[in-house]
Amino acid sequence: MLDVDSMLREFEVELQAAPGLDALQALRVKYLGRNGKITLANKSVNLGAMSPEERKAFGMEFNSLKRRAEASLQEAEDRVRAQTDAVEQVGFDATLPAASTHLGALHPVTITQIEIEDVFRGMGFQVFQGDEAVSEFDNFDALNIPGDHPARDMQDTFWLQNGMVLRTHTSSMQNAAMRKLGAPLRAIFPGRCYRNEAMDTTHENTFYQLEGLMIDRNISVANLIGVMKELIDKVFKVDSRVRLRPGFFPFVEPGFELDYWTTVGGKERWMELMPCGMIHRKVLEHGGIDPDEYGGFAFGLGLTRFAMIKFGVPDVRLLNSGDLRFASQFTASI
Ligand code: DAH
Repeated sequence: MLDVDSMLREFEVELQAAPGLDALQALRVKYLGRNGKITLANKSVNLGAMSPEERKAFGMEFNSLKRRAEASLQEAEDRVRAQTDAVEQVGFDATLPAASTHLGALHPVTITQIEIEDVFRGMGFQVFQGDEAVSEFDNFDALNIPGDHPARDMQDTFWLQNGMVLRTHTSSMQNAAMRKLGAPLRAIFPGRCYRNEAMDTTHENTFYQLEGLMIDRNISVANLIGVMKELIDKVFKVDSRVRLRPGFFPFVEPGFELDYWTTVGGKERWMELMPCGMIHRKVLEHGGIDPDEYGGFAFGLGLTRFAMIKFGVPDVRLLNSGDLRFASQFTASI
């Protein structure tokens, strides 16, 4: 008689070991094909010598064997196909090693900004972010630059249709900060500024500044020099020498250009670094602060320029170029 169980067992062992669809297909041929082991099983018996009952019993056994083998094989094939489909659908093979992720790097201006903010926080300054589209009043009038003042010509401005301007300098934050916080006040305002510039290696239409204000009783030029020197020492990691030259800005009186002594191309010389000055009485008044009681200093630091000096960037246009070959060279020391 046909030994259904042992033949099925033999088939199942091979089925378990079959690694993929090809192996399953080969197994199908080996057992259920035209000359397959199971197909030929009925040849191993002499049907003619059987009684009709025996023949019927044999037929049932044989068919059940074929059906069960067929069902097991089908199940195995379905399982392998489902796995392959899942990999294709999910789009990844969970058994592969993970792809490395690129985290990116901080922009050199951002690195410089964070460093400078830290220095000022250490001296008790708050950090503020202002709007980039501001009123004409905040950008000019509040800073003692009325409409007919020639100083407006120094800043070729992007005017918006609603009368606002893209701020030409972070000094545009001065009035809002004074009104909001009053005196005494120590605050810095870093941010993006815009001017309608003819672009070259040192001029961009979009650049970063960092404005600072210190307002209190009895503030003098000595306080201004002390704070500026601390900034330069910390950012450029030097023990700096600084000097003030007269400089004109309508919102400070007196106004200065601050230089520091440094080495450029192997030669020592004064380098112009930032404009600053003692806040003009009118600017304090506009900001709601009594100029007879309070005074202060202001400075406008070219953040973009600082970053260029710090990292030795030769052309300002590289900073906004979006070129990864440029941007990925800088690493934060923070
Ligand atoms: N806002 C000026 C500019 O963008 C820079 C400046 C000069 C800011 C003198 C100041 C200052 O606070 O005191 O050209």
